[in-house]
Amino acid sequence: MTRINTHFAAALFCFFSFSLRAMSQASQMLIDCNQFDNVTGTSSYLSNRDTVLSTLRNRSSIGSYSNATAGLSPNTIYGMFLCRGDLNRTSCSDCVNATTLEIYKSCFYHKSALVFSNECIVRYSNFSFFTLVEDIPNTARFSPRSSFDSPQFFNRTLLEKLDELILRAPLSLSLPVPYFVEDQEHVTQLEGSYYLHAMVQCSPDLDPRNCTVCLRFAVKRLSECCSHAQFARIFFTKCLITFEISDLQPNVTSLGVKKGESHYI
Ligand SMILES: *[C@@H]1O[C@H](CO)[C@@H](O)[C@H](O)[C@H]1NC(C)=O
Ligand SMILES: *[C@@H]1O[C@H](CO)[C@@H](O)[C@H](O)[C@H]1NC(C)=O
Ligand SMILES: *[C@@H]1O[C@H](CO)[C@@H](O)[C@H](O)[C@H]1NC(C)=O
Ligand SMILES: *[C@@H]1O[C@H](CO)[C@@H](O)[C@H](O)[C@H]1NC(C)=O
Ligand SMILES: *[C@@H]1O[C@H](CO)[C@@H](O)[C@H](O)[C@H]1NC(C)=O
Ligand SMILES: *[C@@H]1O[C@H](CO)[C@@H](O)[C@H](O)[C@H]1NC(C)=O
Ligand SMILES: *[C@@H]1O[C@H](CO)[C@@H](O)[C@H](O)[C@H]1NC(C)=O
Ligand SMILES: *[C@@H]1O[C@H](CO)[C@@H](O)[C@H](O)[C@H]1NC(C)=O
Ligand SMILES: *[C@@H]1O[C@H](CO)[C@@H](O)[C@H](O)[C@H]1NC(C)=O
Repeated sequence: MTRINTHFAAALFCFFSFSLRAMSQASQMLIDCNQFDNVTGTSSYLSNRDTVLSTLRNRSSIGSYSNATAGLSPNTIYGMFLCRGDLNRTSCSDCVNATTLEIYKSCFYHKSALVFSNECIVRYSNFSFFTLVEDIPNTARFSPRSSFDSPQFFNRTLLEKLDELILRAPLSLSLPVPYFVEDQEHVTQLEGSYYLHAMVQCSPDLDPRNCTVCLRFAVKRLSECCSHAQFARIFFTKCLITFEISDLQPNVTSLGVKKGESHYI
């Protein structure tokens, strides 16, 4: 599973978000702080934010998700983190700690912040976003396939696999890592054989129905960016999807025969 990380160095990157927001990318993180909601003056808002982030950091070595709320209205702060389900606790905690530092660096005076890193999401806001499914912001990281493409890979093999996992995800809320399912399968088709590794995950604050809704958003996004990718990871604020093709063995006979009529790179 850790295999997947090695692809990030070469991964392409895109980020869809609210148009009025400032975004920056630091050490593979995507930081989204709202420029137009600076906290002014000395505010209990900032100390509530610090409490929330500290609580999240402290809980990050216990599980893959936590939420926290601090302060009285109108200075209440809501926060959460979500780690990728395939991380161990140390890695999750490392990620949440590093991401929190990045929030302090980039978003200190901001009323809300959301950071996607490779491995986790950390977020705080002045409104309660718990239980809500959202389609923006989101991120896609992917690396293109080099030697092999198959017209049926995306529409058949991958979508069928993801459909299967998306049916299972909402049923797995009570597992040790809630709402997380992954699968690896060896696939043989005309163009070659390969391993297909796939995982889907929802944030546990969603109900099962909204978990499905979120994953469907992510599949749509995947079909827009990544149908010819070898590796892709889509992060929405409340769910994520990853797939990777590995140990690809192209069918040399088939490639030789079909080269002239291929429409794929
Ligand atoms: C908010 O603060 C940042 C720096 O912390 C500054 O660059 C930005 O212009 C401020 N925005 C507003 C609307 O005051
Ligand atoms: C987090 O843990 C540290 C060290 O144990 C502690 O000082 C701090 O008060 C904790 N934060 C919260 C919000 O409980
Ligand atoms: C957690 O995962 C990281 C990265 O894969 C690895 O380096 C580390 O040894 C693991 N730690 C434990 C306690 O399993
Ligand atoms: C992350 O920070 C918390 C609180 O500061 C600390 O308890 C925890 O050990 C840190 N995790 C790692 C992996 O360093
Ligand atoms: C959160 O802050 C924004 C920007 O200052 C404000 O428009 C909004 O009303 C606040 N929401 C809540 C629930 O306080
Ligand atoms: C599902 O998400 C929608 C859209 O964010 C939200 O309005 C609704 O309350 C959520 N449903 C539940 C049961 O949490
Ligand atoms: C998948 O199917 C859709 C609609 O049926 C089509 O537009 C798209 O080109 C197909 N993609 C591939 C890679 O064959
Ligand atoms: C917040 O976390 C607590 C456990 O710490 C959990 O019982 C609760 O359901 C969570 N709330 C949401 C909205 O995720
Ligand atoms: C490889 O391609 C050839 C020619 O298209 C085909 O006859 C053969 O069955 C393919 N092999 C596999 C393992 O799919």
